[in-house]
Amino acid sequence: MNHRTPVPDRASGPRRGEGRMFLAEAVRDLRTTGAVAPSGRALARALTEPVHAQGPRPLSVLEVGAGTGPFTRALADRLPRGSRFDVVEANPRFATRLRTLTATHPRLTAHSVRAEVHETYLEDFKTDERYDVVVSGLPLTNFAPAQVDLIMSRLIELLHPGGTLTYFAYLGTRRARALTASRAEARRHAAVDEVMAGYQRRYAVGRWTVWANLPPAYAWHLQSPPAPAPDGGTGNPL
Ligand SMILES: C[S@@+](CC[C@H](N)C(=O)[O-])C[C@H]1O[C@@H](n2cnc3c(N)ncnc32)[C@H](O)[C@@H]1O
Repeated sequence: MNHRTPVPDRASGPRRGEGRMFLAEAVRDLRTTGAVAPSGRALARALTEPVHAQGPRPLSVLEVGAGTGPFTRALADRLPRGSRFDVVEANPRFATRLRTLTATHPRLTAHSVRAEVHETYLEDFKTDERYDVVVSGLPLTNFAPAQVDLIMSRLIELLHPGGTLTYFAYLGTRRARALTASRAEARRHAAVDEVMAGYQRRYAVGRWTVWANLPPAYAWHLQSPPAPAPDGGTGNPL
């Protein structure tokens, strides 16, 4: 497994307006919104790296839990010509903003990327499409362990064989919850960690520590197993 720390980068001007909107949604529903501020560009870069690595062929990419769109913009900046880009976001106000973002992003139009925003919970998202890259911003540590298991298995299932799922987790949340939360809440959090550790053991190919995010976060890369060679062999011509 790979451990790297990307070069620090800070959020800049235009994202401040987004910050207000994000905070308002967090006040409305902190459990679903999952944070009080949008992610920064360094984290966005770490999570969208597989798009860069798999290009320049056209890709099929899914983003889930896009919020005000920091990862959406990073993906729009990186998607190869002719790609398909689906965005799933449960919050209707975020979804409206994301529709404007994807409809007006000059590079998406110039590169004939077919972008669509789906205003729905991932759990209700119906599709037969399979993706080369799935980027998740879902606040999994806020959910029940069974829901996390359901979501993670669905995210893996949505990948093409050999496709990459990326997601992030803030550093130190377990210790913070142990100090501040009720016993039941600390137990729930530990159970979620265990579910996630199971997926990490099976599928993780890399974990990056992004210090230049508020708060600092791990960027996880998981990969679905590659398709077996058509002749049932190893794919080695010898
Ligand atoms: C922690 S925010 C991340 C937003 C953005 N990706 C970022 O990093 O700034 C989580 C986002 O996931 C959305 N969300 C939460 N649960 C969801 C679900 N089950 N299906 C789809 N979106 C969900 C929330 O509305 C919110 O926009």
